[in-house]
Parts: sequence; structure tokens; C-alpha cells
Amino acid sequence: MAQVIMIASGKGGTGKSTFATYLATELAINKYKTLLIELDAGLRSIDVISGTGQQAVYDLGDVLENRCDVYKAMITSPHTENLKIIAAPYRDYNADFSRFRRVTDSVYRDFDYIIIDTAAGLGAPFQAACRTAVMGIIVITPDIISVRDGRLVSDEMYNSGVKDIRLVINKFVQQTFRHSGFEDMDEIIDATCARLLGVIPMSRRIAVNAIRGEQLSPSSQEKQIFTAVAQRVTGKDVQIII
Ligand SMILES: Nc1ncnc2c1ncn2[C@@H]1O[C@H](COP(=O)(O)OP(=O)(O)OP(=O)(O)O)[C@@H](O)[C@H]1O
Ligand SMILES: [Mg+2]
Repeated sequence: MAQVIMIASGKGGTGKSTFATYLATELAINKYKTLLIELDAGLRSIDVISGTGQQAVYDLGDVLENRCDVYKAMITSPHTENLKIIAAPYRDYNADFSRFRRVTDSVYRDFDYIIIDTAAGLGAPFQAACRTAVMGIIVITPDIISVRDGRLVSDEMYNSGVKDIRLVINKFVQQTFRHSGFEDMDEIIDATCARLLGVIPMSRRIAVNAIRGEQLSPSSQEKQIFTAVAQRVTGKDVQIII
């Protein structure tokens, strides 16, 4: 039975979809059957980042509107058979997410993990994900606005019943951290009320690979960081690499 994990942020563009895709890929490479769903209305990016490109004939909107079976909307990752992807409803700004729980309920026996990449903010996609997730991962960038918004997301998740809340600090740059408005990492963790899952550097490699739908090189530091993050998600006690 799948563990359902939602990825969220207050502010847009913090790196949710990139993180969700690399986390899902990492889990799948490590033999966990994983389903990655992009829960956003009108916008898509996971199809590009995951390398599935233009393959999506059906998307989440079709599933929610009963135009196609959920399995028909799943695309297999070109990197691993264990990862299936459901694309966000493209151009469908009025997608009705109230039926989303039924979608995850109908497939959760077939997967070990269901990763839900939500839209920024506390709107309908976020609320729908809260109704089904057991773990919430907040992706923030190390700046005062993103952290403040992250706290709102954290509180809203908690109040909606998602009690296991984790934090990813993305686009981290050591040299500029002192201008972030925070003394140290602990201050950010305290401000968001979430357990630290990982710190991901600002990385040209991540940005370039994401846009090409390619995997991270096995020898890269970024890949090692995602491996450690995925291990922590599965409950392994591994050190946080910064
Ligand atoms: N660690 C990183 N280093 C460098 N660039 C990154 C990193 N993570 C994400 N990016 C880049 O930041 C941009 C936004 O990433 P992404 O689309 O994953 O954010 P998002 O939070 O899903 O955005 P939205 O709120 O619009 O859904 C992309 O250009 C992506 O390549
Ligand atoms: Mg996104």
C-alpha cells in the first residue's frame, strides 16, 4: 500500500516539480514502485523534467472527468520501469480536484509511493493533496519570504491532518546565505516547524538536466544528495549532506 507524499510550497518556482521528479526517480531506481502525479491546473512541467516529453495523451484532468481510466493516463519513465507519471491537466484551468482522493485510493495498492507535486500556494491542488497525503514536504529557497510562506504551508498541512512535515531547502548557496536574513539553518527549521529532509545546492547541472529530462550523473554531488533524501524518505537514518 502506497505512502502518499505531497510536495508543496507557498511561493512559486522554489523547485517543487524538479525535486518531486528527482525524488520519485530515485525511489523508483531503488526498486520502489512509484507514481508521480502533477496536481496543477493549466500548467505542466513534470513531463519535461521526467523526460516523458510529448507522450501524454491523457492527463489528470481526463481521469478526474472520467474520460479515461487512471491506468491509461500513466506514462512510464524512460529511466525506470518502476516510475509511472500522470501529467497535470494542460490548459484546463477549471479542473475539479474534489475527486482527486478517489484517484489515489483507486491505485494505492499498486504502488509503494505516490508523490504528488502540487501547485504553489494553498489553493485547490494543495487542499486536494492534503486530503490524501500522510507526509508533506515543503520546498523552500533560503530567503525570508519563502520561509515565511513555508510556515503558512506547514501550519495549513498540519491543520488538514498531514502531521509528518519535512523541509527541503533548495537552491542553497553557501556564499550568499548570510544575506538570507537567517543566522543558520536551525533558524529556518524552527521558523517552518518542519523536520529537515535535505539541502539541495543551486546547481546548473540540476537546471540543465531538468530541462533536458535527463538523470543526474551518478558521480555528481547532486545525485548523492537526492539518494540520501530518498533514503531518509524511506525511513533510513542517513546523514544530511550540505
Ligand atoms: N537546485 C536547483 N538549482 C538550480 N536550478 C533549480 C534548482 N531547482 C529547481 N531549479 C530551477 O528552478 C526553476 C523552477 O523549478 P520548478 O519548476 O521545479 O519549480 P516549481 O516550484 O515546481 O514551480 P511552480 O511553483 O511554478 O510549480 C526551473 O527553471 C528549475 O530548473
Ligand atoms: Mg511545479
